[in-house]
Amino acid sequence: MAYLCINLIFFLFLFPISALAQKNGIVPLGSTLTAGETSASPWLSPSGDFAFGFRQFQDKDLFLFSIWYYKIPDKTVVWFVYSIDLVPRGSTLKLDARSGLVLRDPQGLQLWSADVNSSQVDHGFMNDTGNFILKGSDDSRLWESFRFPADTILPYQDLILGDSLSSRQSATKFSQGRFYLRFLYDGNLVLATRSVPTNVYDDAEYYNSQTSDPTVLLNSGYQVTFDGRGALYIRKRNNETKELSPVSIPPALEYYHRATIDFDGVFTYYFHPRTFTGNPNWKVLWYLPENICFITGEKGSGACGFNSICHLEHGRPACSCPEGYILLDPDDKYGSCLPNSSLGCGAVKEGSTENLYDFVVINDIDWPLSDFEQIYPSNETVCEQACLQDCFCVVAIFRDNSCWKKKLPLSNGRVDTSLQSKAFIKYRKSDAPSVHPTFRPVPVGSMS
Ligand SMILES: *[C@@H]1O[C@H](CO)[C@@H](O)[C@H](O)[C@H]1NC(C)=O
Ligand SMILES: *[C@@H]1O[C@H](CO)[C@@H](O)[C@H](O)[C@H]1NC(C)=O
Ligand SMILES: *[C@@H]1O[C@H](CO)[C@@H](O)[C@H](O)[C@H]1NC(C)=O
Ligand SMILES: *[C@@H]1O[C@H](CO)[C@@H](O)[C@H](O)[C@H]1NC(C)=O
Ligand SMILES: *[C@@H]1O[C@H](CO)[C@@H](O)[C@H](O)[C@H]1NC(C)=O
Repeated sequence: MAYLCINLIFFLFLFPISALAQKNGIVPLGSTLTAGETSASPWLSPSGDFAFGFRQFQDKDLFLFSIWYYKIPDKTVVWFVYSIDLVPRGSTLKLDARSGLVLRDPQGLQLWSADVNSSQVDHGFMNDTGNFILKGSDDSRLWESFRFPADTILPYQDLILGDSLSSRQSATKFSQGRFYLRFLYDGNLVLATRSVPTNVYDDAEYYNSQTSDPTVLLNSGYQVTFDGRGALYIRKRNNETKELSPVSIPPALEYYHRATIDFDGVFTYYFHPRTFTGNPNWKVLWYLPENICFITGEKGSGACGFNSICHLEHGRPACSCPEGYILLDPDDKYGSCLPNSSLGCGAVKEGSTENLYDFVVINDIDWPLSDFEQIYPSNETVCEQACLQDCFCVVAIFRDNSCWKKKLPLSNGRVDTSLQSKAFIKYRKSDAPSVHPTFRPVPVGSMS
């Protein structure tokens, strides 16, 4: 034993780097990575398709602890941990037998670990599938990144009952966003919104796979499978499947596949050529739901923020503030809008409502569920007057001889051409912008 130890120390002393070099996807015990160390390569899968380690982000001195596509220009991140922020230069990742993987800040404070419950880790393995695995000496899998997805699933990765993916806050902000994909215990795969960070209940469901049968358990889903060919489907206990992806999938030999719940809430299936011939970009194969603007929940703001209006652009939500409203956070186009001037009841004392307020009229938009009063029968003149005289009313919707008075905050706002509705949006005259008779909402945010 002593001889072995001395030998080992000698060995490590002589070959401090090469002895621990990572090859063929295998990461030996004791391996470490340091954020910002330019000489160190991340841990690569055998083909080099995926890398595990610290990816430099935005700021030169901040790094994302993650797994990403290594060979493509985009270096798209497929795995990270929501509870870990970007880490500073000098942070370390170590593979050790007792705790598995340990992430520490430059001062040595532990930020995260892949707990493997005192089992003996023998080595790590970065698989060509994008899965990082901690293996025991008997080749058992003690921990794998595939079991802890962030916002993306990959071929060969399954979801079991209770699993979920969460959207990130924005394309470059890796904190938790408002949208979730969940595989519920009843067998339904759903998309839902949730208030962050504390609300554990879903605000609004906006897709449901309908793969739960409470009377016959065998008819219910129990696994979401993303197979090596790239097909994504729900398996039921009776061995039936419900396909989620379309029939024709670009061949896996030539293309990478991934499915991500994007920060705007759209669950999107992408493909990308493995080599750089043609157009080396992610392309969309399909997405859920068909129209995310139609999110409707008693709680939550909908696809866009409060008081905002969503319209669909190539399957994506584009959000705009109505006339007289401005973004709460100018850097968050998907966020909430605020009235640019007071619309509250307090303001009325300053003068008669006719002098204070006017209306912008927009066709085909609605904020369902925000109404506090319905007037029937009504006509456009009566509807507008009713809203003008009521200091609680900020918007009136006129449709089918009915008038709905709406209050703040307006939620689930969207363009809906099926309604044949007219929205009267109240604004303060004094700081009113020029009023266009045929005003259409101007998108302030869209994913191009
Ligand atoms: C470790 O595993 C054992 C047996 O499976 C279990 O009883 C114990 O609670 C686990 N400990 C932790 C910290 O997870
Ligand atoms: C890598 O992933 C493939 C597909 O899931 C699997 O068959 C293989 O066993 C994995 N490799 C290792 C070394 O675990
Ligand atoms: C589903 O398939 C498995 C393996 O093919 C089989 O063992 C099982 O009996 C099948 N279950 C049902 C309900 O048909
Ligand atoms: C709207 O209804 C009011 C009250 O019923 C009526 O006086 C007015 O003429 C109507 N206006 C239009 C344009 O029909
Ligand atoms: C908001 O109000 C301010 C001051 O009243 C005005 O200068 C500005 O143009 C308004 N912005 C919008 C978007 O209406």
